[in-house]
Amino acid sequence: MQDYEKLGAFYLGREHDLASGTTGTAPLLYDAKDLTTHAVIIGMTGSGKTGLGVGLIEEAAIDGVPVIAIDPKGDLGNLLLTFPDLAAADFEPWVDPAAASTRGKTIAAHASAQAELWRKGLASWNQDGARILRLKEAAEFGIFTPGSTAGIPISVLSSFDAPSAALRDDAEAFAERIQATAISILTLLGIDADPLSSREYILISNILQHSWQAGRSLDLAGLIGAIQSPPIQRIGVMDLEAMFPAQDRFALAMQLNNLLASPGFATWMQGQALSARSLFYTDEGRPRVSVLSIAHLTDAERMFFVTLLLGEIIAWIRAQPGTSSLRAVLYMDELFGYMPPTANPPSKTLFLTLLKQARAYGLGLVLSTQNPVDLDYKGLSNTGTWFIGRLQTERDKNRVLDGLEGAGAGGGPFDRGAMAQTLAGLGKRVFLLHNVHETEPVVFHTRWALSYLPGPLTREQIRRLTRASASAVPVEPPPAADPTPRAAVDQAATTTTARPVLDPGIRQYFLPVTTPGDGPLTYYAQVVGAAEVFFVSRTHDIDVQRAFVFGAEPVDGPVALDWDWAEPIAIDIAALEDQPPADAAFGPLAAPARRAPAYRGWARDYKTWLRTAQALTLYRSKTFKQVSAPGESEADFRIRLQQFARERRDLEVGKLRARYEKSAGRLRERLRAAERDVEEQKAQANQKKIESALSIGGALLGAFLGRKRLSSSTVSRVGTAARRAGYAAREMRDVREAQVEAAELQARLDAEGEAFAADVARLEGEIDAQAEALDTVQVRARSSDIDIRFVALLWSPYRRAADGRTRPA
Ligand SMILES: Nc1ncnc2c1ncn2[C@@H]1O[C@H](COP(=O)(O)OP(=O)(O)OP(=O)(O)O)[C@@H](O)[C@H]1O
Ligand SMILES: [Mg+2]
Repeated sequence: MQDYEKLGAFYLGREHDLASGTTGTAPLLYDAKDLTTHAVIIGMTGSGKTGLGVGLIEEAAIDGVPVIAIDPKGDLGNLLLTFPDLAAADFEPWVDPAAASTRGKTIAAHASAQAELWRKGLASWNQDGARILRLKEAAEFGIFTPGSTAGIPISVLSSFDAPSAALRDDAEAFAERIQATAISILTLLGIDADPLSSREYILISNILQHSWQAGRSLDLAGLIGAIQSPPIQRIGVMDLEAMFPAQDRFALAMQLNNLLASPGFATWMQGQALSARSLFYTDEGRPRVSVLSIAHLTDAERMFFVTLLLGEIIAWIRAQPGTSSLRAVLYMDELFGYMPPTANPPSKTLFLTLLKQARAYGLGLVLSTQNPVDLDYKGLSNTGTWFIGRLQTERDKNRVLDGLEGAGAGGGPFDRGAMAQTLAGLGKRVFLLHNVHETEPVVFHTRWALSYLPGPLTREQIRRLTRASASAVPVEPPPAADPTPRAAVDQAATTTTARPVLDPGIRQYFLPVTTPGDGPLTYYAQVVGAAEVFFVSRTHDIDVQRAFVFGAEPVDGPVALDWDWAEPIAIDIAALEDQPPADAAFGPLAAPARRAPAYRGWARDYKTWLRTAQALTLYRSKTFKQVSAPGESEADFRIRLQQFARERRDLEVGKLRARYEKSAGRLRERLRAAERDVEEQKAQANQKKIESALSIGGALLGAFLGRKRLSSSTVSRVGTAARRAGYAAREMRDVREAQVEAAELQARLDAEGEAFAADVARLEGEIDAQAEALDTVQVRARSSDIDIRFVALLWSPYRRAADGRTRPA
C-alpha cells in the first residue's frame, strides 16, 4: 500500500468530509514537485501547523530531499525523536514529567502510555516502526544552535568570507550577498539600517565590496579596522570624511568591538561555518535535515542569524543548476515578524527574493504562521500551495479569503460564501489544501507524525540529543598547505650565505614578503614548475583548462629532482619578484640546481609527469550514464546524481500519470453508467446499504492521480458500486447484465492499478544515488595540450622569530 513512497508523493493525511465530520481511507498525496512553488501553513495556535510541518519534513526526508528548518519556538527538535521500536524506554527521557504527575502516574508509566499512544496513532494511519526506521535512515538529523553550544554550534564568521569568484561575477547575486551581510551586522548592533540612507550601512557595504571584490575575506577584527581606516576615500561622489567623520566611525568601531569582546559572542565564533551546502548535505553527500534552533536568542540575534542564513541560501541556490524537481526545502515554523506586510525588517527582502527566485533551482519554501495578517501579500501571491487550518477571528478568515480569491483558487469561479463555510468548519489537524496545480481545493486531516511530539525541547535535552549523535557534527576542513618548502624549515639552522651566483640561463623568482616583522630575512630555494594544461575528452564531454604549480626541492645526488616529491603550491605567479631585498641571506642550494641544463631536463620531466600523474580523475555512474565534472567531489557528484535521478523519476511519473489518467478516466465514465444501473436495480430490490473495502489497485490509482482529474472519491464509489453489483449478482437474477459489466470494469480497473503499481516499483530501483557504485575515469592531457610556462628556481623568504623558530615571512 505504500507504493506512493517511490513517487515523490508526500503522504500528508487523508481526505476529510466536513459535512459528516469523517476522515476517509484514501491517503492524501501531495506532489513533491508542487512544493517548488512554495507553501504557506496558516492556522491558529494548536491547529496542528507544526504537526503538519513535521509530517511534510518527514516526507521530504524519506524522499531524500534535504531540509533546513528554522525553529523559533523549539518544537522542531522533535524530528530527532524517532523510535523505530516504539519502546517505552525510548520515550521515557522525553516525556513531560508535569504531564505524568497531573495524570497521577510515574514517569515510566506515562512513557509507556505515550509509546502505546504513538504505536496506535501510527497504526491508524497505516504507519509503523518500519516507516520510522526508513525515515531515520533516509537522512542525517541534527539540531544546530547558533550562539550556543547546546546543539551543534555554527560560526557566523565565515559569512564575511569573500564569496566565490563565480558569485562575484554575478553582479546581482554579489550585491545581494553584500547587502544581506551588511544588514545582518547592523541588526546585531541594533542599528535599523536603511540601505538608501543609513551611512553605517553604506560604509560597511562599501568595505565588504572593496575587500570581496579583491577576493579578500574579512573577519570582525578586520572589519573593525577597516571602519576606522577605510580602504576607500570616496563613496559615490562624496568624500567619506565629510559623510562619516573619523570620530563617528570610531564610535561604530567601538560598538562592534564591544560586541566582539562580550563573553556571549565567543559562542558565535565556534563550530562549523555557516554554509548552506553543509546544512543540506553531509560531507559524504547524504541529505540532512538541519533544525536551526533559535529559540534561545534575543530578537536582534534571531534577525541577525536568519538574515545571514537567508543570504547564504540565496548564494547557494544561485550556484546550482536549474531544475524542475524539488531539490531541497527551507521550512520556517513561525514567520511572525520576518515578512510583515507593513514594516521592512532585513529578512523580508530576502524572503521575497527567495519566493521569487528559488523555484528555478528547486528550493521549496514552507512558511508557517498563526496569523495571516503577518504575511506580506506580495509573498502570498507567489505561493502555490496554501494549507489553511482553523482560524480564530473573522478578520483572519477574511484576510485568507481575500488571499484565496486573489490567488484564483481552483479553476472555476470563486465561491466566497462556500469557502467561508468550509473555513469555519475546520477543526484541529484538519486543513484546507489549496494548490494551484490542482483543479479544486480539498479538506484533509493530517496524518500521525512519525516523530514523537512532546513539544519544545530544553537546552539540556538538545545537548543530550546532539551528544548522542556526535557523528553528525561535521569535521572542520584541514588547514590549507603551507606554500613554502618544508625542508627549508628543517634546514633553518644551517649556515646561510650571500646570494649564490648562478648561471644566467636559470630563471629565478622571489616570493614577496607578506608577513611584516623585524629581523633579517633568509631565502630558501625550491624548483617550481608552472604549467597550463588542457584536458579534452569528447567521450566525456570535457574541455577544461587547469593551471598547475608544483614545487620540489633539489638535492645533491644521482636523482637531483623527482616530481613525485612535488607538492602543489598556491602562489600568485603575477606577484613574483625578480629581486630579493638588499640585505637578505640565503640558505644552501644543491649543486645540480646551479646548472641551467638541469632545468631543461626538469621541464621535460615535468611535462611527462603532469601527463601521467596529474590526469583528471572523474567519477562515472553507469546507471545514470553520467560523469562528474572536473573538480567535482564524489559527494557533490552523488548529490547531483540524486537530483538527476529525481528529475528523471518525476518525468517518468508524469508520463505514467498521463497514461493512467487517460485509461482510468475512460473506465470511470463507463463505471459511472454501470453504477447508476446497479443503483437502480438495487433500489428496486430494496437492498440495504453495503459497506465494502476498496480494491488496492483502485485506491492506489485514486490516491495517486488524486484530484488532478480523477477524484479519489469517484474511485471509491466505483469500488463500492462494483461490490454492490457483486452482492446484487448473488441476490438478484434480473440485474445480471449490469453487475457483470460493472464487475468486468472493476477487474480492469484493478488490473490497471496493479500495472501502475508494477510500473512504480520499477521506478524505485533507479533512484538510489547514494548506494550507486561509481567507477573512476582518468582523462590524460595530450603532450601538445601541456604548456609549460616555466621551470624555475623559487626563493621563499623566512624570518627567525623571537622564540628562535624560523617562519615564513
Ligand atoms: N501530525 C500529528 N501527529 C500527532 N500529534 C499531533 C500532530 N499534529 C498535532 N499534534 C498534536 O497536537 C498538538 C498541537 O499541534 P501543533 O503543535 O502542531 O499546533 P500548532 O498549530 O503548531 O500550534 P502553535 O501555533 O501554538 O505552534 C501537538 O503538540 C501534538 O500533541
Ligand atoms: Mg507550532
